Amino acid sequence: MTAAFTIAIDGPAAAGKGTISRAVAAHFGFAHLDTGLLYRAVGAKMLAGTDPEAAARALTVEDLAGENLRSHEVAQAASRVAVIPEVRAALLDFQRGFARRAGGAVLDGRDIGTVICPDAEAKLFVTASVRVRAARRHLELAGKGDKRSFDEVLADVEARDRRDRERAEAPLRPAADAVEIDTSEMDIETAVARAIAVIEDLRG
Ligand code: DC
Repeated sequence: MTAAFTIAIDGPAAAGKGTISRAVAAHFGFAHLDTGLLYRAVGAKMLAGTDPEAAARALTVEDLAGENLRSHEVAQAASRVAVIPEVRAALLDFQRGFARRAGGAVLDGRDIGTVICPDAEAKLFVTASVRVRAARRHLELAGKGDKRSFDEVLADVEARDRRDRERAEAPLRPAADAVEIDTSEMDIETAVARAIAVIEDLRG
C-alpha cells in the first residue's frame, strides 16, 4: 500500500467537481468520497422528520446510497442542514478518517481544503460562472424528465451559492494554496486533463 495522499476538491454546485473527482480518483487509483452526499443524507432525514444533528451523529454508509439523494428538494435541504455547526462537527471525523486512509483519497465538497483537510497534499477549487452551472444543471434535470425552467434552476443555484458562501461555519471559499480551475469554457475532458496535470505536478 502506498502512503496516504489526500486530494481536496472544492467548489460550488454544478461546477464539474463531482465528475472531475471521480475521474481523478480512477486515474490515481484512489478512493473517492463525495462529501455532499453526507449533507444530502442528513437533509433527507430532516425532510423525513428526524432532527438534523441526531441524524448526522447516527449516519451510516448505507444512508449514502439512497436513490432520492440527488433530487432538488434534498439538495436544498442539504444546504440548510450544512449551516448547523453541530451537524458539521458530527461529520468531521468520518471525513478525516477517510482522507488519511492508506492508498490515497479524493474528497470533494465545499470545505475540504479549508477545514476538513487543511494539510491535503493537493487542493483544487473548481468553479464556473453561475449561468453556465445553471445551464448544466437544467440540462441534467431535463434529461431526468424534470420540467423546471432555466430561470427556476438559476434561482435555485444562486440561492444555494448564497447559503454555502455566506454561512458562518466553514463557508465555501478557496484555500489560500488551492489551484483554481474555471470550467466555464472547458469541456469535461479538458477539465479532467487539467486537474490531473495539476495533481501530477504537486506529486512530483
Ligand atoms: O455537492 P452537493 O451539491 O452534493 O452538496 C449539497 C450541499 O451540501 C451543498 O449545498 C452544501 C453542503 N456541503 C457542505 O456544506 N460541505 C461539503 N463539504 C459538501 C457539501
